[in-house]
Amino acid sequence: LLKRSFSTSPSMNLIKNITVIGGGLMGSGIAQVAAQTGHNVNLVDLNIDILKKTESSIGASLSRVAKKLYKDKPEDGEKFVQDTKNRLKTSTDVTASVKDADLVIEAIVENMEVKHKLFKSLDEVAPAKTIFVSNTSSFSITEISSVTKRGDRFGGMHFFNPVPVMKLVEVIKTANTSEGTHTELLACGKAMGKVCITCKDTPGFVVNRLLVPYLLEAIKLLERGDASAKDIDTAMKLGAGYPMGPLELADYVGHDTTLAIIEGWYKRFPDNSLFKPSESLKQLVKDGKLEKELLEALQHLPEDNSDNSN
Ligand code: 3HC
Repeated sequence: LLKRSFSTSPSMNLIKNITVIGGGLMGSGIAQVAAQTGHNVNLVDLNIDILKKTESSIGASLSRVAKKLYKDKPEDGEKFVQDTKNRLKTSTDVTASVKDADLVIEAIVENMEVKHKLFKSLDEVAPAKTIFVSNTSSFSITEISSVTKRGDRFGGMHFFNPVPVMKLVEVIKTANTSEGTHTELLACGKAMGKVCITCKDTPGFVVNRLLVPYLLEAIKLLERGDASAKDIDTAMKLGAGYPMGPLELADYVGHDTTLAIIEGWYKRFPDNSLFKPSESLKQLVKDGKLEKELLEALQHLPEDNSDNSN
């Protein structure tokens, strides 16, 4: 293990076998990109129906990627899709799927108890060489890793939705993550075609620490009636060059996700007013309106709502 750590350079990816746990949006995107870039991937979920859905969404996404990469050579595109699918296995058996893993990427529900239960059992069955990472949006990696005996081989790899498109991975280094592990994670992110940045184990890392309060403030602007939904989104697209306005992005991320992040932080840091949850966000989640609600409000606004003459 020591030899492996010291012989690694950022350009040398030693990680070949990747197990992704969680077949949701993030887990399936991560598994797809890992397989696309030549890794052998096991995608695990306890729910067989989720895995079936995942296989078809990965198929659809791969076709979009192939169309773009092999515009002029569709037959090469078909081979790319088939080769990627051949490298990607799905399973409901966690123990068997980590047997040969160099890296385990956890992308399950944002619940600390559930994550602890998973990592405690993984720590017992995975080989000593296996590095563990979490794709958590907002939890502490140190706290997640505390139930394992491999804090030195534990870090964070935070991907962004849609994973096949978004170029960034935040690589999180805790106080216990070894230099060797950190170097291997950077090399792996690069081998997955991503640009990596390093961040300490701080709430929300870089992107969500900035993005989530921003989304929340956009919702609060709307709550206060300071501007219409349409104008808030137009403002940030045309005034700050963002591909989506904050309300459209809040729909895209999912209101339950944003609320869970902000409530978790508010509990931990009640004095930070940036983390105070918005009432209408709470209401949307309470009503089961988890996505599209703000976007629909945008689309159904009469045209003259963008008129600033009043
Ligand atoms: N799989 C493969 N390709 C995809 C894809 C997918 N799931 N989704 C989009 N694409 C491709 C399309 O095929 C298209 O390719 P082309 O350029 O060759 O035509 C390209 O991406 C652009 O897609 P569209 O033309 O459909 O639409 P847009 O140009 O509007 O782009 C977007 C869509 C990439 C989602 C863009 O709107 C965007 O970047 N939005 C912001 C996304 C963002 O901020 N994500 C981060 C969320 S926060 C997060 O994830 C952290 C978590 O912890 C909360």
